[in-house]
Amino acid sequence: METMKRNLGPVIGLYPTPVTVVGTESGGRANWMVIAHIGLIGRDSIMLSVRKTHYSNEAIMENKAASVNLIRSDMIKAADYAGMVSGKDEDKSDIFEYYHGTLKGAPLINNSPLSMECEVIDIYDTDTHSNYVLRVVNTYADEDVLDEAGNIDYEKVAPVLFEMPQGTYMSSGRSIGKCWDEGKGYEIKNR
Ligand SMILES: Cc1cc2nc3c(=O)[nH]c(=O)nc-3n(C[C@H](O)[C@H](O)[C@H](O)COP(=O)(O)O)c2cc1C
Repeated sequence: METMKRNLGPVIGLYPTPVTVVGTESGGRANWMVIAHIGLIGRDSIMLSVRKTHYSNEAIMENKAASVNLIRSDMIKAADYAGMVSGKDEDKSDIFEYYHGTLKGAPLINNSPLSMECEVIDIYDTDTHSNYVLRVVNTYADEDVLDEAGNIDYEKVAPVLFEMPQGTYMSSGRSIGKCWDEGKGYEIKNR
């Protein structure tokens, strides 16, 4: 059966992405923003794409550090608020209770199931965005999202996802197959 394809032009189709709340500190005050335009770089680093006008840029550069926190569905309202109001206009430090790991300037959210403290190792600037390459220094996980071997179980983390252009939060957390296993024995058709 043939389906009609419509060329949408240069639209990024790589959604949904995980919603992250990024924690920073400026002048000792914590600040939180939401970032969903994120990426993985190799096996030890991640990328955050931050619009240059956001207050968080100054804070990230003040300590060359940030925390990256996944959220569960019960954190959507608080996170969404952090993603609408700027630290330039309001003190957002009390939105989340937090602790520190080993890095200065990377506050970690208490009730995030999985948080990473990261240091800035590079920046790729475009006209509108600073794209920070961050090395993950430590990752903190709730005990109840780990399997018996101590590995992260993403069915248990069930991170909230984000998509554009509808601008919705989506759920995750249900496995539908095993990687490096489903393809075993697959036969290519019409050969
Ligand atoms: C769901 C969601 C996703 C967002 N993703 C990004 C993003 O990827 N990059 C970005 O620069 N801003 C993103 N934002 C907007 C910032 O989080 C928002 O402008 C925030 O208020 C900036 O805070 P600050 O000025 O205190 O740094 C997102 C907001 C929401 C609600």
